[in-house]
Amino acid sequence: MSIWNLGSINADHFYRLDRLPEPGETLASKSFSTGLGGKGTNMSVAAARAAGRIHHIGAVGQDGIWARDRLMEYGVDTRFIDTVDAATGHAIILVADDGENSIVLHPGANAAIPDDLIGRALAEASPADILLMQNETNGQLTAARMAEALGLRLAYAAAPFEAEAVKATLDRIDLLILNEVEAAQLTDALGRSLADLNIADIVVTKGADGCAHLTAGTETNHPALKVTPVDTTGAGDTFTGYLIAGIDRGLPIAQAIGQATRAAALMVQREGTADVIPDLKEVQDMAL
Ligand code: RIB
Ligand code: NA
Repeated sequence: MSIWNLGSINADHFYRLDRLPEPGETLASKSFSTGLGGKGTNMSVAAARAAGRIHHIGAVGQDGIWARDRLMEYGVDTRFIDTVDAATGHAIILVADDGENSIVLHPGANAAIPDDLIGRALAEASPADILLMQNETNGQLTAARMAEALGLRLAYAAAPFEAEAVKATLDRIDLLILNEVEAAQLTDALGRSLADLNIADIVVTKGADGCAHLTAGTETNHPALKVTPVDTTGAGDTFTGYLIAGIDRGLPIAQAIGQATRAAALMVQREGTADVIPDLKEVQDMAL
């Protein structure tokens, strides 16, 4: 089986600061670096690192060929990344000494993914493959409809949160992944609790408190590992990529959550995003 990820591709620009700036304030950064990122890309790379078979569906501009090449080097199928007439997406990422971040995202090519590209890609999918998506691209509803018609399982990591996008696909989602803030926003927007949604599996991530798995009327809590964060950027995406790859590889979900939790714990101790995601061996070998 394999995973089809409709996902963003960004150039990440990292600025390291003592603390995040207040409105109207100017702060000098202590360091600057660039790398490959985007929530979708981070998930694709994490899934590849976790031994998943992953096909990325997305778009870059002429200035983003390097990003596609790098995804390929990381073991991701890049045949369905189109070059479109827009600048490649990029993110300005401010990271404070306590590991917290603020991100400004310019979607660029991520918002210009052609519908027919999604169709061309999913024409190669097999039933029981997984379609994964987030909210940094266009095309979610198109992709969700196609996934349903083809019998694919739909996994939605609803970040950055957009109530309307989630609502539009709600009845088609098999696995929903969100953080606590997003979960509260969703239940507010729907006026229903998560347990009342007709979704087979919901995973709510809670940072240092681990995550909760809701399925068939039960809720199971999985603790996080105790680590000192250096940079939390991309840790949630790494969690999701590992989780989906584990499920696709046939692991019981609790075991997939365990690997995802460990991968995320390594990731919060590393500066950067897609370029520093740990591989399965590192995750399995990590000292607890
Ligand atoms: O979740 C982290 C990601 O958010 C970064 O890689 C950045 O590109 C933004 O999309
Ligand atoms: Na990080």
